[in-house]
Amino acid sequence: MSDKNLEDKLKDAVLLADAQREYYPEFQKEEGIPVYTGYYFEDLKAIEVKPWARMGGLGAFVNLLGEEVLGGNYLCEIRPGETLKPQRHMYEELVYVVSGRGATTYWTHEGAPARTFEWKEQSLFALPANVRYQHFNGDEARPARLFAKTTMPAVLQYFKSNKFLFENDFVFPGLGDDFYSPEAKIYRESPPWNYLVWVANFIPDVRAFDKMTGNDSRGAGGSSVRFYLPGCVRLHSHQSDFPVGTYKKAHAHPPGRSIILITGRGFSLLWKPGEEKNKIKVDWKPGSLFGVGLTDLQGECWYHQHFNTGAEPARYLVLHTKSPVLGDKHVEVDYFDEDPEIRKMFESELAKSGVKSRMPPECYTERNYKWKK
Ligand SMILES: [Fe+2]
Repeated sequence: MSDKNLEDKLKDAVLLADAQREYYPEFQKEEGIPVYTGYYFEDLKAIEVKPWARMGGLGAFVNLLGEEVLGGNYLCEIRPGETLKPQRHMYEELVYVVSGRGATTYWTHEGAPARTFEWKEQSLFALPANVRYQHFNGDEARPARLFAKTTMPAVLQYFKSNKFLFENDFVFPGLGDDFYSPEAKIYRESPPWNYLVWVANFIPDVRAFDKMTGNDSRGAGGSSVRFYLPGCVRLHSHQSDFPVGTYKKAHAHPPGRSIILITGRGFSLLWKPGEEKNKIKVDWKPGSLFGVGLTDLQGECWYHQHFNTGAEPARYLVLHTKSPVLGDKHVEVDYFDEDPEIRKMFESELAKSGVKSRMPPECYTERNYKWKK
């Protein structure tokens, strides 16, 4: 091999190494805080967080298996009475308040008027790309813990530069100076979903939110709302309730969704297409987190199914990253078509908690059974 050929091959190797770099995992290591990866986390309040220089508080990354470059999740804790460092970044973020109370001051660009809104446990708010903001803990005695869902993995993989993400002066137009308000614009989605759509950048308390409406298509007599947060185009949220003694239809959709339990007790099953015999069971309670993934790059989405075995209605909040490729692709299994073992498993779990099944027997014998209110 001539020296010229060798030189070309070496150049190729450098290019290949660059093409195969995964920037978000590298970023996570550099941040020096714990990186947890799994299908399921039992309690967001119990995950250990460590000092995080970038934020000025404590933190941990919480990676959901199968989500990979679509979306990222992290926890950040603010010590009692303390303030985090001001932030801005070229990716979108949704913040759910796990515990504590505090406030966030924000301004859309240097020189814009600073405004502040207050949040507490169970608040949900959005941080659109490159908004300047600073979080405060408003309690002198207790820490405040925030859970965030971001589009950072995809944005970083495209632009390959922390500096581009964190030190960028670009001002996105159209937000106005005062965009955090519980005031909402309300819409109804068209069929088949028919979701109530609540458009606001701040939901003061998702647990107390009482404007949800019936969502029969998912079974179990549940109700739902979709939250759209102005300024965010790749992230949104929805939450659903379902009654005592019921379970929802199994379904599959793209990953990038962080499912957080708000109320109730029960379990969910997760499985990969073709691996119905190897279902993963996750037992949940308020504060649990889990997600779903892809089996392969052809877009084989994992299935999941939620079961309420507790004594009160179950409510879960889902923070979504929208897949640019798969969109909202959705597959559902009617009760009529499901593996009979699922019903048996639900009934045996219910027996342990002494709750009676409220699943109508007809849903197993009539295809497309319509839930009666
Ligand atoms: Fe789902």
